[in-house]
Amino acid sequence: MTTKKTRRSQAWYGKQDRDGFIHRSWMKNQGFPDHAFDGRPIIGICNTWSELTPCNSGLRALAEVVKRGVWEAGGFPVEFPVMSLGETQMKPTAMLFRNLLAMDVEESIRAYGIDGVVLLGGCDKTTPGQLMGAASVDLPTIVVSSGPMLNGKWQGQNIGSGTDVWKFSESVRAGDMSLQDFMAAEAGMSRSAGVCMTMGTASTMASLVEAMGLCLPTNAALPAVDARRAALAHLTGKRIVEMVEEDLCMSRVLTKASLENAILANAAVGGSTNAVVHLLAIAGRAEIDLSLKDFELGGDIPLLVNCMPSGKYLMEDFCYAGGMPVVLKELAGHLRPANTVLGKDISAYSDGAQCFNSDVIRSFDAPLKPAAGLRVLRGNLAPNGAIIKPSAASDHLLDHEGSAYVFESIEDLKANIDRPDLPVDENTVLVLKGCGPKGYPGMPEVGNMPIPRCLVEKGVRDMVRVSDARMSGTAFGTVVLHVAPEANAGGPLALVKTGDMIRLNAKEGVLELKVSEAELEARRKDWTPEAPHYSRGYAKLYIDHVMQADRGADLDFLVGKDTRPVTRESH
Ligand code: FES
Repeated sequence: MTTKKTRRSQAWYGKQDRDGFIHRSWMKNQGFPDHAFDGRPIIGICNTWSELTPCNSGLRALAEVVKRGVWEAGGFPVEFPVMSLGETQMKPTAMLFRNLLAMDVEESIRAYGIDGVVLLGGCDKTTPGQLMGAASVDLPTIVVSSGPMLNGKWQGQNIGSGTDVWKFSESVRAGDMSLQDFMAAEAGMSRSAGVCMTMGTASTMASLVEAMGLCLPTNAALPAVDARRAALAHLTGKRIVEMVEEDLCMSRVLTKASLENAILANAAVGGSTNAVVHLLAIAGRAEIDLSLKDFELGGDIPLLVNCMPSGKYLMEDFCYAGGMPVVLKELAGHLRPANTVLGKDISAYSDGAQCFNSDVIRSFDAPLKPAAGLRVLRGNLAPNGAIIKPSAASDHLLDHEGSAYVFESIEDLKANIDRPDLPVDENTVLVLKGCGPKGYPGMPEVGNMPIPRCLVEKGVRDMVRVSDARMSGTAFGTVVLHVAPEANAGGPLALVKTGDMIRLNAKEGVLELKVSEAELEARRKDWTPEAPHYSRGYAKLYIDHVMQADRGADLDFLVGKDTRPVTRESH
């Protein structure tokens, strides 16, 4: 690659002066030759590899393969680490740090002399955090995902990440499974590198990245350890160099149309409720007008992908059945025309797609469930909205009225949920407060509250649950999530008392607290906000600036982008 086109990186490495000397000389201590700085595209490989993010443990090796592709295409690859977010390892919740990762990604991309970026992510919050940060800088950007783990195996059966943890733990509480068996399933569940192999948040976000055309086709479902993922990473390295040549910036791919395609795809794959907060936050960075209402677009799309938690198969099966290209082919009549990292319309992603297992990927004519997209709920209990995932809920509870039993905090829930005298029955609506963005803080995945032990023992496996929290993408149940405004921001959720009647109608999009306005007003006068749980550092910054779930829970001062050149030097 000998092109002399002036690139962004030349403002670092193309100068014949003291600043140019400093930028080049220190890089040369790694053995890079002169021609690495001859004006060729410099490609940043933004890596969230970490041993504390086990889902991303394959990314170190994958980065080396991306580099091969970059060199082959005449570019110069430079890998850099950013904060990694291990969903299963971080307390109080990885979501608290999604915006911090996004800041790290944004500032790293902007501060270094690179022309394009490959985002290596996978575990739940790493993909959205990277996309948010990259969107605020708007260089040519492409994603390589970790890929899912191999199917979990235990006692001769497939078991799914997360989904079977929730099922097994309820079986232990019901006395149907021994603690020894429960512990023995651990190693069989997670038996290779990669992300959760259910259609949890990680595989959801990877699927939506593919539907948005922000990666090469088939990226979402190829198992982490499949050699074809390495080949895809190699090809991605080649493609990002071409994207720089074509000046194919992220904003030419990430558009309102591509986000709408993501919403449609989320319905078809039975994707995670977490996609809502992430897509809203990504749209905010890209200055695209996306609101909760736009998610109603997916309401009539049937569930096509038969993967846990909405179905029975796992991501390995989804891959072998044909993966996202087949889903995009089925959705063809609904998808918006939208550009992709290939520089072609999204329809190119399903060229030649063929379904090899019609039970794993259903057709529009024979779906797993009709009209399975997420439902947006409104009413006096959630003036700014809430959501529910009907495909993972119990049909008989989707139109339900019951009296509330209120847990004022997560500690209250943990202390009392197993009380034998808890005054609840299968019609009770469990309410949990204090788990929103500000309150917890970080909006953890606790919305799928455990069923009270006294009911589990009677065989009850689902109830209506309402909170300002999120739910793991691997979880299931008739769970109303993301109630906005949250209790700690003074939302009506803060005013609910045990015994109040609550009405849910998912089809009509209603979430109603059947208490008079006058009574609510009286309760509001008595309400005092809880003191924040943190008073210093990033957590304080987060509590002070986080927006509510209906705005994607980004920090208010991070919305939008700054694409100005960095002109000031360090010395
Ligand atoms: Fe990392 Fe599920 S915990 S992807």
